[in-house]
Amino acid sequence: MQKTAASSDGFLPGFQHIATQAIHAGQDPEQWTSRAVVPPISLATTFQQVAPGRHSGFDYSRSGNPTRNCLEKAVAALDGAKYNLAFASGSAATVTITQLLKAGDQIICMDDVYGGTNEYFRKVASKFGLKISFVDCSKTELLEAAITPETKLVWTETPTNPSLKMIDIEACARIVHKHGDIILVVDNTFMSAYFQRPLALGADICMYSATKYMNGHSDVVMGLVSVNSESLHDRLRFLQNALGTVPSPVDCYLCNRGLKTLQVRMEKHFKNAMAVAQFLESNPRVEKVVYPGLPSHPQHELAKRQCTGCTGMVTFYIKGALQHAETFLKSLKLFTLAESLGGYESLAELPAIMTHASVPKKDRDALGISDTLIRLSVGLEDERDLLEDLDQALKAAVSVIIFVCVCFILGMGISGDQCIHKE
Ligand SMILES: Cc1ncc(COP(=O)(O)O)c(C=O)c1O
Repeated sequence: MQKTAASSDGFLPGFQHIATQAIHAGQDPEQWTSRAVVPPISLATTFQQVAPGRHSGFDYSRSGNPTRNCLEKAVAALDGAKYNLAFASGSAATVTITQLLKAGDQIICMDDVYGGTNEYFRKVASKFGLKISFVDCSKTELLEAAITPETKLVWTETPTNPSLKMIDIEACARIVHKHGDIILVVDNTFMSAYFQRPLALGADICMYSATKYMNGHSDVVMGLVSVNSESLHDRLRFLQNALGTVPSPVDCYLCNRGLKTLQVRMEKHFKNAMAVAQFLESNPRVEKVVYPGLPSHPQHELAKRQCTGCTGMVTFYIKGALQHAETFLKSLKLFTLAESLGGYESLAELPAIMTHASVPKKDRDALGISDTLIRLSVGLEDERDLLEDLDQALKAAVSVIIFVCVCFILGMGISGDQCIHKE
């Protein structure tokens, strides 16, 4: 990995040239007869052939599209990869990758992943004869113990959604590749190509829900997949066309445009998220904060060793119960109560009821996805405004605690000590 000068915050130095690649890779104006500096949106579904079977690189838009081509080249450069493929969504990318397998093969999936990935493997892929095992891959000994001769795919996400557990990609790759022909996938959605390069650490596939940071503007649903292996690329390219899991040229244009500011956005997400995490950690109304950028995170050292910075995602447990989490979320004025993440605007949500409601309750309990776990996607607003908003919403949630306690004391005649204990 080529790096710039050492960074001061203890994380890896930034990837060399990445801001330049985001702007220039795949964007050469000379590829267009018009010399357009911004890649045009190529809406044509079909392309003229000079003779039957002889075309200038494109024949049918599902099989290949000039605007998509520009995006794929740019993302390949950002991931330090030979190839990239764009998909209609992160989920379409997941489905396409899974189609590399056949009935009887086993998938080992990190136990704490995006709820939709968990649900797809459990409810859909399993119907086609694939065996699914959910394992905490942050403990490499558990991963190694779960591998069988049928294992063909190991699916990881780091940091995980929503618990922000870090996985040691290099260690996982060492174990997985010791056992032969197993594909290691890293869902890099939370870090983006700007902070983490899974392929350089030994992963076979780096995938994204580009709906999040890679596009960064909450106006595109898209998936991206980077690989170095030519044969893996050829198989995925065939599947992308055969399954028709392609994105629209307009979305490719928008995502390509979003990439131009990846560096400035991610630096600011990191800065704002760190300020939010530090604020919450020092707030008496907060039980616990989980953020890999904080020294209190159990895998902070791994985050610094593996990444050039940290995501804008912050998870925390509010003191109290479901009603306090709900009051907090409803009281927010700047953070929008909404699913998704990675856009310029700050969002907040309750995974147990929203993004991870489809994960079975016993699994949520085991993963710590409780009714008081709140997930924040920290955006690009003024840091002081964000802290002020969190502060007033936490105070509103505590007022509810006090109100409930007073009612309880008056109604039941119990002592204040017992009331505090109940919190
Ligand atoms: C980590 C992660 N991976 C994959 C997905 C699925 O992506 P999409 O919504 O673009 O289909 C999501 C969606 O939230 C996600 O958070």
